[in-house]
This record gives sequence, C-alpha cells and structure tokens, in this order.
Amino acid sequence: MPLIEAQNIVKIYPNGVLANDRVDLSVEQGEIHALVGENGAGKSTLMKVLYGLETPTSGTIFLRGEHVHIPNPQVAIDLGIGMVHQNFMLVDSFSIAENIALGMESTAAGGLTLDRQKAIHDTEALSEQYGLVVEPTARVDTVPVGMRQRVEILKALYRGAEILILDEPTAVLTPRETQDLFRAIRNLVTEGKTVIFITHKLREVMEISDRVTVMRDARHVGTVVTVDTNQAELARMMVGREVFMVVDKPPVERGAPVLEAHDLTYVNETGRMLLHNATFKVYESEILGIAGVEGNGQTELIEVLTGLREATGGEAFVDGAPVLGAGPRKVRESRVAHIPEDRLTNGVALLASINDNLIVDRYYRPPFTRTGLLNPQSIRSNGGSLIDRFNILAPSGELPVSSLSGGNMQRVVLARELSSSPRLLIAAQPTRGVDIGAIEYIHQQLVDKRTDGLAILLVSADLQEVMKLSDRIMVMYNGEIVAIFHNTPDLTEERLGLYMLGAERQPAEEMEQYQ
Ligand SMILES: Nc1ncnc2c1ncn2[C@@H]1O[C@H](COP(=O)(O)OP(=O)(O)OP(=O)(O)O)[C@@H](O)[C@H]1O
Ligand SMILES: [Mg+2]
Repeated sequence: MPLIEAQNIVKIYPNGVLANDRVDLSVEQGEIHALVGENGAGKSTLMKVLYGLETPTSGTIFLRGEHVHIPNPQVAIDLGIGMVHQNFMLVDSFSIAENIALGMESTAAGGLTLDRQKAIHDTEALSEQYGLVVEPTARVDTVPVGMRQRVEILKALYRGAEILILDEPTAVLTPRETQDLFRAIRNLVTEGKTVIFITHKLREVMEISDRVTVMRDARHVGTVVTVDTNQAELARMMVGREVFMVVDKPPVERGAPVLEAHDLTYVNETGRMLLHNATFKVYESEILGIAGVEGNGQTELIEVLTGLREATGGEAFVDGAPVLGAGPRKVRESRVAHIPEDRLTNGVALLASINDNLIVDRYYRPPFTRTGLLNPQSIRSNGGSLIDRFNILAPSGELPVSSLSGGNMQRVVLARELSSSPRLLIAAQPTRGVDIGAIEYIHQQLVDKRTDGLAILLVSADLQEVMKLSDRIMVMYNGEIVAIFHNTPDLTEERLGLYMLGAERQPAEEMEQYQ
C-alpha cells in the first residue's frame, strides 16, 4: 500500500488557470520520490494541495489507505506531512531555535512565552540526529541561505513530519551544500522518513531519487523507476520534444573594453577582507565567466559593481566613466543590466503586475513616460511582447507576479534585464530555478547578445555552465582573482579545480597576458 496517494487531483485557481488536471501521485513509505516538470507544470500546486495550502477543486487523497481531508497546513502537520517551500517562510528577526520551536510551545504550556533553553536544547538534539548543522542562537536573517533551509527542514521534523516535501531545495544551494543536503536526505530515509523532492536538475534526480514522477501542462505524464531511466528520457517526458542543450556559439572578435575594474577591495564590518585587489576587464562581444567555489568573493564583486555595496577601495569604469559609490540607479544609467542571484527578493515586486515589473528600471523614460505621464498602452505592449518571447506562462500581463510559478517569476527578471539594451550585463546564476527548455533559450540569448557586442560578466555555481558559455574564465579564490584563461579545449574542469581550491595560482605576468 502506498504511504500517500493523490487521485484525480484537479486544481483551478480563482483566475481560471487549470494548474492540476486529474493528477495522480503515489509515494511509497521510505522512498525518495522526485517530481519534475517544466516551469508552470503544476508541481508546487500539487504539493500545496497535499500540504493543505490549496484546496483542490476535486480529487481525493489517501494516507496509509485512508481517505483524508487536508483543509489547512495544521491538519497536514497533524497527519505527519511537512513542507519546505520554494520561497522560505521564516521569521527573520527570531533566532533559529525560536523559529524551530515557534508555534509548538504555546499549546503545551498554555502561554505564549517560549522556553528558550528548551528550544535551544531541542534544536541541538534534532540537528545532531539528522546531521543538519545549524547555529541555534543565531538570528535567521544573519545566516546563509543553506542554513535557513536546514532550519526549515528541522522545523518540519520538530513538528513530527513523516513525509517531507522539499520544493526545489537545491535551486538556492551551492554544489557543496547540495551534497550536504543529499546526505541529510539519505539520513532521513534511514530513519524511516519519506521524501518528495522537486528539482529542475536531472543530474540530481538520477543521483538521489528512487522513483520520478513527471508532470507536463498540469498533467501526470508518468512515473518511472530512476535506475530504469536516464536524463534524456526524462527531458523528453517533461518537454515533449528532444532537448539538446547545445548552444550555437560562433567565434567573434572581441571589441573595446566596456568594464575596467582596478584593485577592487571590500572589507566587511568585522574587518574581513572578502574581495582583494580585483583587477580585470570585460570587453565588447565577450562573456567573461567567473569560476570559483561559492563564497570566494563572487557575490561581493558583483554587489560592489552594481552599487549594492560600497567598495572599500579601487575603481571601476564602464565605457570610461566611473561607476562606484553612486548607487544602483546610477549604475543602471551607465547601461549596466543586472540579473541578481536572489531574484525573488531583489528582482521582482511580487504584488505589482507582470507588465509593471518588466519596466521598473525604465518607466521614467520614453516610450513608457511621455511629457510626464505614464503610457499604459506601451507598458502593455512591451509586457505582451516579452511574455511571448520569454515564454512566460501567464494568462495576462496585468496579473500580479505572485500568481506566477517560481520559474516564471525568474523569467520576468531575465526578460527585463536582457531587453534593457545594456552595454554590460552582470548575470548571477542566470539559469537558477528555470526548466531545461528555458536554460537552452537563456544560454542562446546570452551568446547571441555577446555576438552582437554585449559585454557579459557571468557568475554561476555550475562550472559546466561557465565552461559552455564563456570566452574567458577568471578564477576566484579567497576573495582574489587567482587566474584568467582563454576558454580553450585544454582548459578542463580538473585544471580549473586546482585553482578554485587554491592549490594553484597563476603567476602575475601570465595573468597579465590574459587581461
Ligand atoms: N496563486 C496563484 N494564483 C493563480 N495562478 C497560480 C497561482 N499559483 C500558481 N498559479 C498558476 O498555476 C500554474 C502552475 O503553477 P505551479 O506553481 O504549480 O508550477 P510549478 O510546476 O511549480 O513551476 P515552477 O517550476 O516554475 O516552480 C501556473 O500556470 C501558475 O501561473
Ligand atoms: Mg514551483
């Protein structure tokens, strides 16, 4: 008997979108069940139905063979179902232990005061049991995203989750954190838990899951045993066509330098040097990729360049004009576009419409504003054409971004930034959270724009992505640029790895040659 089974689930949202169309899902006790499908296929919706966050229009759910109603998350929790969302839902100003114990103590103790000592103790015990390392007393908003995620998982376990739903947990993780998470997931299963796991990375599906369910266009396409399938077959089931994932990248002569950075340095509040004398250029018609284990200065470099952080030292010029220290708007006005790493907090205004989100960086310019007045018609037509080109799944551009699926929210940011006719594009993790069809499209867009003259600075935790797209590759280690190479076939992952881990460092004269 399956542990949990959903039959014939139909979900029609109030705006008329059919998100689940007679979907079946059956998950066995103790398995790791992957759920895959394109952006907007209905994966999160199905999980929200199991967790009681959305009421299905029709359909039935069985838990251990018994018919259950799950009208809200409290009922789901009581039934042993826990969920970690695509967008986290922690209370930022509380400590980790408080977040984990929050909402559990008041009923037991009959009051609202939280026993802090007990919360810390329970958190430590749980953290130990599952190998999910957290700092119980740290405030949630001060810890890295990987730890926040572990907090969410612990919180669900603390509430007695037997079935744990993880909605795209690895989209925000570095490769190393992903491996840690996988280890924890395996521990959970050893302890008798069951895991449902959503991802767009088929490599991960192959690595971690026992079975895979594929959804497409709100429907269940099939469920297969992982060892009996492969990435190509899964891709075909997801997209309904062959996916090649190759980019057509013609050779092109690079032009003049667009970005010139000299000795960029950033020292944080506690005196740690996170970026040290970074000197490099990005030229017209080239993609300069940054390779490096995350946390080696890449984020600081980008935030300094885009005006989100103030550099401690150094200079940067775009087309010869200085850009440091003047704030994000000034940087944009120098025709620098930025695809931020954390698009759902820094990239979109969730309650504003899709159309408005597509022009937030340029609403004050023609054609969107003329003689001081916004021009709704041009805002609408701009929205319509970008929704089309970037395949954003939305019934109308007038709807709020919050009604989009996670991957479609990402596309809104990508569409806006790629359409702003920039001179320099700073792209951080550009394909995070989007499906394989969209990855193919975004890769080709980046390469085409580079061929047409755009200068692109690319940061990605995915080394294969960096190697596939870049013309030159710059390696960062411990806040420093330790090597720059032309992306020639002899530059292998292994060779880059030596520099990324700090085992090798290019001599200064040699680096000079590749500037
Ligand atoms: N609150 C909502 N109101 C209206 N429509 C919604 C809402 N949430 C999701 N949808 C729509 O339902 C469909 C399925 O969305 P869902 O979030 O389930 O997709 P998903 O498979 O999780 O995609 P992704 O991989 O992008 O996260 C999409 O067309 C989406 O726009
Ligand atoms: Mg989703």
